[in-house]
Order: sequence, then structure tokens, then C-alpha cells
Amino acid sequence: MAAQKSPRHFLDISALDSKTLRRILDAAHAMKKAGKRVPAALRPKGIENLVLVMIFEKPSTRTRVSFDIAMRQLGGGALSLNHTDLQLGRGESVADTARVLSRYADGIMIRANSHETLLELARHATIPVVNGLTDKSHPCQVMADVMTFEEHLGAIKGRTVAWIGDGNNVAISWMHAAARFGFSLRLACPDQLKPEDEALEWVKAQKADVSLSNDPEKAVKGADCVVTDTWVSMGQSDAAKRKKMLAAFGVDAKLMGKAAKGAIFMHCLPAYRGLEVSEDVLEGPQSVVWDEAENRLHAQKAILAWCLGA
Ligand code: CP
Ligand code: NVA
Repeated sequence: MAAQKSPRHFLDISALDSKTLRRILDAAHAMKKAGKRVPAALRPKGIENLVLVMIFEKPSTRTRVSFDIAMRQLGGGALSLNHTDLQLGRGESVADTARVLSRYADGIMIRANSHETLLELARHATIPVVNGLTDKSHPCQVMADVMTFEEHLGAIKGRTVAWIGDGNNVAISWMHAAARFGFSLRLACPDQLKPEDEALEWVKAQKADVSLSNDPEKAVKGADCVVTDTWVSMGQSDAAKRKKMLAAFGVDAKLMGKAAKGAIFMHCLPAYRGLEVSEDVLEGPQSVVWDEAENRLHAQKAILAWCLGA
């Protein structure tokens, strides 16, 4: 009997090689150019019969809508469920859920509270599993972010990105991307909120050009792109404490002024104006956040096409 091929999961940028990631982003650019109807050459075979099941353990606007529309534009279908709609919400195991959904659907996208849930789902699913954000990473977001950088400033290899604020799930996917796409990432985070050791050790082992300080001005100096994110991620309860620790890490016009001429500003959204970013930066000429949000759709069409065999 032929060995069963393992599904093409999209769990983390760190889990894929540079060549595969490049191929996905090239397809994403081509899909954006093509518009709403994805050309046959970029669509997975038999897509009209393929359905993506989406599970949300946390709220979502961009991920929920862009994945659903991505599947429709590819020519397939999608189903969006909150975890409380499923027996998962009342104790059926992740493993059993994975095995059952694998008998109906062709892919699963999950936004999970815990990264462990994502990995457990992938261990037991016989169809591709996509990470739609966990406490540890947000790889689809950062694929769209790299695409947005390329659109505005050209090749990202050898360029400099500054991450200012919480060393959170999105920051970790940026760290993975720095290693895989070959750019320099300067993180400026409060000492208490630096990215977790596992991610710091991973970039070190990869010899990636990633540095960490608690000095936003140093990180931003001459950078091509400045990125930040909310100070309070979904599921975190210590909002007041975090806001105090991050008070000196807001991105405003003065900080943007230290970046390279023509630098862009990114934020995965939702944004909290007056906290992690000032109104004038978010709405100003350097901000590319709406392109970034749009590119979730195109990047995810390409991710789904790859997962589903294109
Ligand atoms: N950036 C992002 O993932 O947004 P949503 O939480 O709205 O999906
Ligand atoms: N770091 C944020 C990203 C939201 C898209 C969170 O996890 O809530």
C-alpha cells in the first residue's frame, strides 16, 4: 500500500522553507493582479468541490471574512463556526473533532486560544490545517505584511523592519519571517514583554538578523518599515498593567521621523488610536494599513491554494 501523503498544513512561517514561502507570495501577488476571479492556473484542481471549515475560539473581522471570501474567489466554499457551536465547546476532544471534520471538509482554519490546540488538530487531521492566529503566532497576517512591504518598497531581502511594543504573537511571526525572507528585524519591547524564549532561541539558531532592545528610537533609526500591534491581545486580562509597561512604546509622528525617508507604517488591526499608534500616523501618508488588511485576502488565497494542492 502506498504511504499516505501528509497534508500541507500552514501552521507557522518557521515550519516552511523559504522556497515554498516565496512561491506562495508570488502566487499572492499574481492573484491580486487577477482580481476577483482567480485564473485556472492558480486554482487547486477540483476546487469547486472543496470546502474550508473555519473554527473561531476568539473574535475576528479580517480573518473570518477574508478566508471566507478567499475560498469563494478560488471557486470553493467555506463554513465559519464559533467553537461554542461545536461539541468542542462542551468537551469533545480536539483529536476527535479533527478526525470527524477530516471526513467532511477539505481544509480547517482555526483561530485558537492555545497554540497546542492548533498542533493537536494538525496531528489528527488528514486534511490541511491553517493557523488563523494563536497565542503564539499569526503567520497568515505576516505573509500579508511581507506582501504589503514588497508592493510598496520592493524586495524585502536585506531591508530593515522595526517592531515596536508588545513581543506578542504577531511579533513572533515577524521573527520567523525575518529568518525565512532574509531581512533585518529590530524589536523594541519592554523588558517584561519581550517575545518568549523559544522564539528568541529559534532566530538565534537560524542565524537570523533579529535584534532586541527596549529602545524604540534605536530600533526605528533608518528602518524601512515600522510595525506595531495592540498592547492588549485577545484573552489577556492585565490591560491596565500592560498599558503602563508600554506607555513609552507608542508609535507617533516623532518616532516615525527617525525612520528612513519613505518608510511605511503597518499594523495588523484592530488599532487603538492614542495608545500603540497615534491617530496622525495611522491615518497619515506613511500608513499602509488598509492595503495590509486587503492583502490578507490575496495572501490567504495563495496559502489555501498551496494547502489544497495547487
Ligand atoms: N488582523 C486580524 O487578524 O484581524 P481580525 O482579528 O479581525 O481577524
Ligand atoms: N495580537 C493581537 C492580534 C489581533 C489580530 C491579538 O492576539 O489579539
